[in-house]
Amino acid sequence: MKNISVIGSGTMGNGIAHVFAQYGYEVSLIDISAHALEKAIATITKNMDRQVSKGILVETEKSDALNRIQSFTSMEEGVKNADLVVEAATENLSIKLDLFKKLDELTPESCILASNTSSISITKIGAVTKRPEKVIGMHFMNPVPVMKLVEVIRGYATSDEVTDSIMELSKGLEKVPVEVNDYPGFVANRILMPMINEAIYTLYEGVAGIEEIDTVMKLGMAHPMGPLQLADFIGLDVCLSILRVLHDGFGNPKYAPCPLLVNMVEAGFKGAKTGEGFYKYTSGSKDLVVSPRFR
Ligand SMILES: NC(=O)c1ccc[n+]([C@@H]2O[C@H](COP(=O)([O-])OP(=O)(O)OC[C@H]3O[C@@H](n4cnc5c(N)ncnc54)[C@H](O)[C@@H]3O)[C@@H](O)[C@H]2O)c1
Repeated sequence: MKNISVIGSGTMGNGIAHVFAQYGYEVSLIDISAHALEKAIATITKNMDRQVSKGILVETEKSDALNRIQSFTSMEEGVKNADLVVEAATENLSIKLDLFKKLDELTPESCILASNTSSISITKIGAVTKRPEKVIGMHFMNPVPVMKLVEVIRGYATSDEVTDSIMELSKGLEKVPVEVNDYPGFVANRILMPMINEAIYTLYEGVAGIEEIDTVMKLGMAHPMGPLQLADFIGLDVCLSILRVLHDGFGNPKYAPCPLLVNMVEAGFKGAKTGEGFYKYTSGSKDLVVSPRFR
């Protein structure tokens, strides 16, 4: 594989394009928004500058990698020579199904179609194409250039050959791929989201306060960040929608989202990106401040 097309140039798409370009692949980065593409190239440049200052890359490796990334707003142009597409567009079922139907028509027959989805069924995505054996999940973690894990998700119809080639490709990016089967939440979010939900229930039921819950998990379990702070960083709306996928997919009440989480999302308090979730985020403040609503 030589030509990689990345669909969506947001948080994940720019990181995925960065890593493939860093490891010598020709990358076509595609987004419907020209502004998002400009922002992505600026972010990749800044992140590669940081790698140069840390001695991970030398200046010429950085400029060569940047030269390997081309931006497109036309999907047709951007995927026509792709050996592999990694889709990292907005997490929305109808957007993904529509994209994969188009990708099936626009890419060469041999092209593997991967999705970076956090929660949508790879089997369902594969079923809208005529090549479900070549549809697979490549679930990178944020920030992509730093995080080692790639959860490789086999849909019901994904072939052994395609799974093996994605496992090998991921190792070539110096990532650690882990193969999992396609069931709701895969492995990462099936375990992480119930923990976050339980932390929110613990707060909701008055067992302990925000800092106390996060401190127990940080110092007691050696987690780098408490579950409530992590939920704020992931986005409370994202956590809620993944919990709903688990709840609907398994039909088990143990995945029911905590009413406090539902209320916070409905009120627009979605965590760091909106300035407030369990903590209040003010630019320039170094210390985490608990949201005044919980005092
Ligand atoms: N953010 C995370 O921590 C994280 C972690 C793992 C996986 N994911 C998954 O990665 C995917 C992307 O998430 P993100 O956080 O980067 O989102 P984001 O909102 O930062 O970026 C999404 C980008 O997709 C573009 N887009 C939307 N529809 C498109 C289309 N039809 N064609 C081309 N581009 C389109 C948008 O313009 C936007 O730039 C989602 O499936 C998400 O579940 C996110």
